[in-house]
Amino acid sequence: MSLFFLLSLPLLLSTPPSRDPFISGVSYNIDCGGTANFTSGSARHWLADRFFSAGSPAVVAEPHRFLQPQESTLRFFAPNSAGKKNCYSVPLPPGRYYLRTFTVYDNYDSKLRSPSFDVSVEGTLVFSWRSPWPEDASRSGAYADLIASVADATLDVCFYSIATDPPVVASLEIAAVHRLAYDSAGTGTDLILVNYGRLSAGSGLFGPGFTNDSDAFSRVWQSDADYRNPNVKIKALSAGGHRILGTNQPPNYFPDKLYETAVTTVSPSAALEYLLPVDTRLDYMVWFHFAEIDLGVTAAGQRVFDIYIDGENVRRIDIFKQVGRFTAFKWHYIVENLTSSPLSVKLEPVVGKPIICGLENYAMVPLDLATIPSQVTAMRALKESLRIPDRMGWNGDPCAPSTWDAWEGVTCHHSKDGSALVVTQL
Ligand SMILES: *[C@@H]1O[C@H](CO)[C@@H](O)[C@H](O)[C@H]1NC(C)=O
Ligand SMILES: *[C@@H]1O[C@H](CO)[C@@H](O)[C@H](O)[C@H]1NC(C)=O
Ligand SMILES: *[C@@H]1O[C@H](CO)[C@@H](O)[C@H](O)[C@H]1NC(C)=O
Repeated sequence: MSLFFLLSLPLLLSTPPSRDPFISGVSYNIDCGGTANFTSGSARHWLADRFFSAGSPAVVAEPHRFLQPQESTLRFFAPNSAGKKNCYSVPLPPGRYYLRTFTVYDNYDSKLRSPSFDVSVEGTLVFSWRSPWPEDASRSGAYADLIASVADATLDVCFYSIATDPPVVASLEIAAVHRLAYDSAGTGTDLILVNYGRLSAGSGLFGPGFTNDSDAFSRVWQSDADYRNPNVKIKALSAGGHRILGTNQPPNYFPDKLYETAVTTVSPSAALEYLLPVDTRLDYMVWFHFAEIDLGVTAAGQRVFDIYIDGENVRRIDIFKQVGRFTAFKWHYIVENLTSSPLSVKLEPVVGKPIICGLENYAMVPLDLATIPSQVTAMRALKESLRIPDRMGWNGDPCAPSTWDAWEGVTCHHSKDGSALVVTQL
């Protein structure tokens, strides 16, 4: 699986206080490679590097190009001294969390060669970095994020070296989200929602770390412009100061700002189309955000359009009929077992022109098998008692993710019923 929702580094102005109404006080911003705690812009607290298994701190080659201190320091895990597998193990109350990573290379090691490595969360592979990285990500870094459940009071984020170059990470941001966010009641919590696009239509990038606009889950919203079919002429709309109802509601707490702008087409017969990058053979959860913010629409039936996903008509939308004017209306749809990329999302006019405020796309990555808990405990105790050196990389789960090698010197197999991994040989 290749990630990616890459945000190139914009000018970082300042940061808003993070609001966290879910589990009081539970949010961590870790400055990987950083040596001091600090508070950025407006009351975002950053912790000096901690919770890691091994590795070394470093500074990017051109730190002056990074306006936030946490972006220019990093931790790297050299396989010959720190082992192939290293983790951040962050103590947290069990719950559901938003995790955002910032990853940068910027020739910190003067070798001019970006590394190849995998990243797992809670024992499941979520991101793959393969050398050479896109120039922009390598030089300026990239953010990636996901939503995952933590059952055992520790969030494990692990890095696995694919070749000889060390995995790197520059910052980790973790914020509690509502337990029922993003339809967890419908999908269960045995999956991780990996962000493949969180777009705001008709506005620029906004969210914590980038602008002063708040988002209760610390989500960052990117302009939709790069993902829209460029051949369709669009018109940007604004709510013009009207308050939007139905925002910031549990369980998803979608921000006001998302619904204050929208795009529509210029030609009445044109469809709005988005092309979203995806990896195939996964299920995707697509969220649509609408609000009727055009004063010209005054009754149901005046703006009606159909949503097509990869050519299939999945829903007819009449926002006014659903919720009236200046009110958020959101809907989500699960696309199963995608077989082609990009994913096409099209809004075809029926009456009037289509309109949209935002679009989110998440890969629904099923949780991988894990080593049975009693063996994890036993293996960790063994690691302590034998004083296993760092270079053995005995970190995280001994056997998982199943696509990685087990801990050095350890052999794993599937349990008889296939529901877990077991250590069979030392
Ligand atoms: C940073 O803050 C944490 C939590 O308040 C504290 O435990 C730690 O010692 C501090 N680290 C430094 C380097 O000041
Ligand atoms: C964001 O908030 C900070 C502190 O409250 C303020 O100094 C800054 O001017 C604000 N930035 C913008 C772009 O509004
Ligand atoms: C997904 O689609 C591919 C290609 O059509 C098919 O071979 C595979 O069996 C499908 N997988 C599932 C889980 O439906």
